[in-house]
Amino acid sequence: MNVDVLINDVGPRDGLQNQAKILTAEERLQLIEALSKTGLQEIEVGAFVHPKAVPAMAGTDVVIDGLPANEITYNALIPNRKGYELALKTGIKTMNLVTAASNTMNEKNIGMNNAEVMAVCQDVMQQAAKDGIRVMAYIATCWECPFEGMIDPVVVEQTTADLFAAGADRVVIADTIGAANPGDVSSLFIRLKDKFGLEKISAHFHDTRGMGLANTFAAYEVGVRMFDASIGGLGGCPFAPGATGNVATEDVALMFAKMGVSTGIDLDELIKAVDLTKELTGNCDGGHSYRWMALQLEKGKSLN
Ligand code: COA
Ligand code: ZN
Repeated sequence: MNVDVLINDVGPRDGLQNQAKILTAEERLQLIEALSKTGLQEIEVGAFVHPKAVPAMAGTDVVIDGLPANEITYNALIPNRKGYELALKTGIKTMNLVTAASNTMNEKNIGMNNAEVMAVCQDVMQQAAKDGIRVMAYIATCWECPFEGMIDPVVVEQTTADLFAAGADRVVIADTIGAANPGDVSSLFIRLKDKFGLEKISAHFHDTRGMGLANTFAAYEVGVRMFDASIGGLGGCPFAPGATGNVATEDVALMFAKMGVSTGIDLDELIKAVDLTKELTGNCDGGHSYRWMALQLEKGKSLN
């Protein structure tokens, strides 16, 4: 890693999947191109899911076909073997499998219970190893589930162990509905650090209760160095009631920049990407820091 903290911008997937306005493949590519100029290391560009389940992600193959050539790790979500096969054809090299810490969330999201999803993950990762595909495995609802309530950390630990045993290159601990708090974030990551180390563990926070950035900091303090975030704070899961946007990339990038922690991100370019996100979706206020950052640029000051 040539940066202190690695950020995966999930806006073009987690962000756009929950928008009323469906963007065209060209518009999605415009957003990805803007993000690609910011210095971000990783960008989640779409999902290979049923187009009726998530209409905004239809045409992800077209998006991948138009991606600029560079060193960025573009990645895409796959829920099952069919998604894997579809993604494989596009040439994308990093795929994101999804499970959840709760049975009900798995049933609502991808129509399978925890054991069935784990069997799918094992099958897909076995194939991915043969095909040279990197897999990031997401665990949704790691602190609280909108259907089952509080999640036992033992379940998250066991699911993480099973995913690593199946060959996951990274496990992403997700607060899908933005219900975690910094205390619980610390304790879960301390548990995972003791068991697995944190080199291959990433954090994914939503900002539903305004604690996304505090949770990011809490995870950083424990030693997490990889984070998902979403440009403009776009995001949410259509299958998880109450989920609002992800923690905004500009908030995370600014916080780390001010702390002297490198992310590789050019903040001036990042604000241009927020402006484009606002323009394309017509439904984005930007993160908590957006107004202040935009004002600095208006005054002719650089944020870097
Ligand atoms: N992409 C596109 N189509 C898919 C697919 C995929 N990954 N997986 C299955 N299908 C198709 C099957 O081919 C079948 O098509 P047919 O009716 O034309 O024969 C149909 O979907 C039903 O297949 P089945 O295996 O029974 O799937 P399902 O109806 O249980 O749906 C998912 C499973 C995972 C495809 C669906 O729930 C989904 O796309 N969920 C979206 C999850 C998501 O994006 N959540 C937000 C991010 S975490
Ligand atoms: Zn999410």
